[in-house]
Amino acid sequence: MTFSSVFQSTLSALGFGALGYLVFLGLLTVPFFQDQAIYLHGVTLTWFKDVSIAEQWGFLRNQVTPFTLRTPDGVTLHAWHIFPLGLYRRHEDELIKQPEGIAVDVTDRTSFKLLRDDPEALLVLYLHGAAGTLGSGWRPPSYRAMSAGAPDKIHTVAIDYRGFGASTGYPSEQGLLTDAVTLAEWAMREAGIPPSRIVIFGQSLGTAVGISLAHYYASKPTPTSFAGMVLVAPFADVELLTATYRIAGTVPILGPLSPFPRLLAFLNTFILSKWPSKDKLAAFVRECEERPGDDGKYHVTIIHAQDDYDIPWSHSDQLFWHAVNASRPDGITFDDLEEEKEQTKKTLGPAGWVAESRTARGIVREEIAKWGLHDRIMSYPIVSLAVLRTFEASGAI
Ligand SMILES: *[C@@H]1O[C@H](CO)[C@@H](O)[C@H](O)[C@H]1NC(C)=O
Repeated sequence: MTFSSVFQSTLSALGFGALGYLVFLGLLTVPFFQDQAIYLHGVTLTWFKDVSIAEQWGFLRNQVTPFTLRTPDGVTLHAWHIFPLGLYRRHEDELIKQPEGIAVDVTDRTSFKLLRDDPEALLVLYLHGAAGTLGSGWRPPSYRAMSAGAPDKIHTVAIDYRGFGASTGYPSEQGLLTDAVTLAEWAMREAGIPPSRIVIFGQSLGTAVGISLAHYYASKPTPTSFAGMVLVAPFADVELLTATYRIAGTVPILGPLSPFPRLLAFLNTFILSKWPSKDKLAAFVRECEERPGDDGKYHVTIIHAQDDYDIPWSHSDQLFWHAVNASRPDGITFDDLEEEKEQTKKTLGPAGWVAESRTARGIVREEIAKWGLHDRIMSYPIVSLAVLRTFEASGAI
């Protein structure tokens, strides 16, 4: 039985039927419903919980400082500053005394001062996936994984995008980029962390936001280079995603149309959010490779689990290819790169495998784990190590 027939029989069993499916497809051409399907921001998953009390998700008293950021277009973003455990231990008494709850002016808080005034501080900008809030699912354990490689140095700041959780506004492709830029500007200007000490982390939808963010800073007249990017369970772009994405790992929204590529392509012309990650990642790499002087360093790690039922890991093969192709003057075909990977990849037995491509400027890695599903993997040591490796490569540690 194919997935689409399973899907169709599930729909019929639900009394949905072919006609219902056509109505559903019709609805998907309406921007409002598309946004609901792509961002899933209406699904908070932390219902009836105050997302400014992080102790509910297993953090120590004031280990998380909730605060707000204001975007240039007037949106208020809810953010968490997550303190690494080793550093927390050293400042436990001061941190416990800090007032609790959301910080109106975060610069008054001890936690913020300990970040800003530490020349050795490292920072992860954390961009989460679709649906939920800062406190949902595997996100809290994954914040702890960010700092596990250097628990006395690595801070994490995560945001709920516009329209998510307690943030105001409504999500859009441009809006989420503005949110991420607001976060990065805050990190560099308010917290004073140099970009070489900042890693961009994204998971699922957050990988598209992260790539967009890195691309935005690389394409400015005066470009900014961050230490690097760690992208977990990414997708190549929305067009490829619609053919393969399964909500909650089971419902392939447009999967039944995959035998009809033209119809799928037609439907895609109605979808406003494109999130063209593979093209933006390639443009980012090209920009770094071609930048005059010696300032174009980059470090990109793509991580995916083979048992990811939401987004298949073939998306990571696509992204890796587009990045590597852009890094080489004559490019490389997908098949040639696959063959090169077969020859050069490091096999890690039950842990999976790693492929890497280097130039004088940068490194692109693809790490495929055998297990980790779509979300859980972001709390695993493979991610902690990737974050640490990225800081090391930039010379920050
Ligand atoms: C791969 O790189 C080559 C050379 O830069 C370029 O001409 C080609 O368009 C790239 N392929 C893709 C799929 O981006």
